[in-house]
Amino acid sequence: MRIIETVAEMQAFSREARREGKSISLVPTMGFLHEGHASLMIEGKKRADILVTSIFVNPTQFGPTEDFDAYPRDLARDRNVAETAGVDIIFAPKASDMYPRGFQTYVNVEELTLPLCGASRPGHFQGVTTVVAKLLNIVMPHVALFGKKDFQQLAVIRRMAADLNMDVEIVGMPIVREADGLAMSSRNAYLGPEERRNALCLSRALATARDLFLDGERSVGTLRDRVLRVIGEVSGAVIDYADFRDGDTLEAVETANGRTLIALAVKIGTTRLIDNCILGEEQ
Ligand code: PAJ
Repeated sequence: MRIIETVAEMQAFSREARREGKSISLVPTMGFLHEGHASLMIEGKKRADILVTSIFVNPTQFGPTEDFDAYPRDLARDRNVAETAGVDIIFAPKASDMYPRGFQTYVNVEELTLPLCGASRPGHFQGVTTVVAKLLNIVMPHVALFGKKDFQQLAVIRRMAADLNMDVEIVGMPIVREADGLAMSSRNAYLGPEERRNALCLSRALATARDLFLDGERSVGTLRDRVLRVIGEVSGAVIDYADFRDGDTLEAVETANGRTLIALAVKIGTTRLIDNCILGEEQ
């Protein structure tokens, strides 16, 4: 495994690999890698000759009051996780190389970024689409893999790639969970022991709604009440959003079907966690 730290070197590497007829897969990350990231890497390795993972805590996707400075970083540990998962190249650029003086070009996806995390985190998706567009231009992968844990992010990136005719296949991967159901996240590292227990209310609320749906309940009003009740039972859990939306368009729905998305963002203490499910899909 090799670590590349400059944009110019990464681009030169990919240009040469493509000239030799090799295929490239890319797993973009912000590091502090866990099994969720590793699942994307293992799949990425199967889909191309060379697997690149980027590790870059992207400043433009954090709001001014968010956790950019506190975001956990551990490159030594990340190297081990990445190497074990089969990564060939870690691309770990500096912010000054990604956003040099004079930088002023951003990518914006419109409707899909309005609800959910787009509403609670103004500017967040503009930062995500801009950095992902840059990473795709730098690494020039044939395939790029993203997790459904960040469901809206995946939808937004698919839209961007289609709208801008990007010559890359976008692959969405299932959510990887801890044994007790908590969706894996680098931000879980912020949770104290009691918060870690309280954090289970997200996956518990989703499972409760899913069971009701499988028993035949189709009213979003009824399903939402149950979700709110499960989360409401936990003191110190504050709902940012608990939304029922069409899994493709992200438009709000009042009647549930197999493609309905339940998307949750809940603050446990000071840590904001997200989780989701599609009602008709295996978990
Ligand atoms: P990060 O949060 O590090 O996540 C990197 C990728 O791992 C994303 O595609 C995310 O959806 C996926 N992922 C995270 N937790 C997962 C889990 N429990 N199961 C499956 N996949 C999981 O998402 C970002 O970074 C950034 O926004 C990025 C796309 C890198 C742009 O900066």
